[in-house]
Amino acid sequence: MSTSNNRSRVPGPKSRQLAQRLRQVESRNVTFISEDFPVFWESARGSWVTDVDGNRFLDLTGAFAVASLGHNPPSLREAIEKQIKKLWHGMGDVHPNAVKVDLLEALKDLAPGALSRSILSSSGAEAVESALKTARLATGRPGVIAFEGGYHGMSYGALTVTDRDDFKNPFSGQLGSWAVHSPYPDSLHGIAEDRCLESLDRFLKSSAGLEAPIGALLVEPMQGRGGVRIPKPFFLQGLRDIARRYDLMLIADEIFTGLGRTGRMFGVDHSSVVPDLLCVGKALTNGFPLSACIGTPEAMNAWPASDGEAIHTSTFLGNPLGCAMALASLRDLRARRLARRAAKAGDAWKRELQQALGGHPSVAEVRGIGLMIGIELVKDKPTLAPDSELAGRVVTGCLQKGLILLSGGIHRNVLTLTPPLTITEREMAGATTILAEVLHSSPLPLRERVQGEGGQQPLGISGLRTLTRPPKLPATDLSPNGRGV
Ligand SMILES: Cc1ncc(COP(=O)(O)O)c(C=O)c1O
Repeated sequence: MSTSNNRSRVPGPKSRQLAQRLRQVESRNVTFISEDFPVFWESARGSWVTDVDGNRFLDLTGAFAVASLGHNPPSLREAIEKQIKKLWHGMGDVHPNAVKVDLLEALKDLAPGALSRSILSSSGAEAVESALKTARLATGRPGVIAFEGGYHGMSYGALTVTDRDDFKNPFSGQLGSWAVHSPYPDSLHGIAEDRCLESLDRFLKSSAGLEAPIGALLVEPMQGRGGVRIPKPFFLQGLRDIARRYDLMLIADEIFTGLGRTGRMFGVDHSSVVPDLLCVGKALTNGFPLSACIGTPEAMNAWPASDGEAIHTSTFLGNPLGCAMALASLRDLRARRLARRAAKAGDAWKRELQQALGGHPSVAEVRGIGLMIGIELVKDKPTLAPDSELAGRVVTGCLQKGLILLSGGIHRNVLTLTPPLTITEREMAGATTILAEVLHSSPLPLRERVQGEGGQQPLGISGLRTLTRPPKLPATDLSPNGRGV
């Protein structure tokens, strides 16, 4: 593999210049700018990105798990070119277009079980909003149980169910008070699936009289931004069972995990669970803002028929260019059997990474499912204290050597690899070599004695925030007032 570059230094002069201009015109929270970061992309093809200085990078992110078919695939170019000649904007919820109907039918064919009616939207967060509103209408109950470490987007409804204090605290007072967060399995940190299910069941048993009675369970089958956390299949089966017993809507947020990423078409397929509502986005179009919430007819029929004024819609709903791209993406995904490829390639790469990196004193675990792989970095293995600083250094060190990657997890200490599902063996092997080089050449930080070592770290509602050693669930770990925002 060659990440051959003209670069003397990354970012190069043109990227630096653009960064200076950007600083003057973009709100400063949006783009992180430093001496080493970012590079400005000019073009991309397959798994490769070229920046404005002519440097080439192997993209291990799939640009946020979107470019599953690789960047700029011919099938999508053709679909865009064909559609753009006809219509690229219409009146989605008033005078719709045929390509929207085609896509809705394709989603019905693709989705598991009886999931067959969709609400289209633009971003992942909007698909989550559609699911939350549908569940509210279908159950008559506003309360939602989401999960610790979960990420569902940044709009106010989606942020309410997201579990990130750093994203939420600045906006307290404008977020809802109808969501609580329940423990999510994490085998490395000793949070077992059955304990999570027991704690949820216990909470629901004693939830009568809540100000916001619970109507829905919202879960990522595997957490992506939460640090690639992969529960055993019986966790989701247990949630399905609990949802049935307590008459709750089960919402699967598959915006990260859907459409082949995990080695099956959907993350829920690993446990043969059919949710009531399922959200997709990201890889649906391979690069156009289009998302969907797909539901059962029963759930979706909770919405009133439109009387000429839809009570939930948006200007770009069912954008024809996006629909054409989604149709072409889904066709390609299936024709090239990319889910199967992700399973096989991901398995092999995970083993290779475990071999190359597993022995490093800061690598607590290399885990993954399909082509969604996480490398958890810690200050030392006995305490598992997160090392976000090292993760940051590896991300910038890799950029210097021609690899684009991201770190995730609530402590930002999990290197997260979600390359195009078309990445080649050679490219993966080259990436492993660079990752090992960068990690092994990173100076090890002074080992910090972690406070409380030797004591028991309780897993309460806020347990994961400060988790440093395998915790034990206390008798009551989910309280109506605990993680609610
Ligand atoms: C599971 C999940 N849900 C929702 C979202 C939000 O999607 P968007 O950024 O398109 O709003 C994301 C984004 O990373 C996600 O991973």
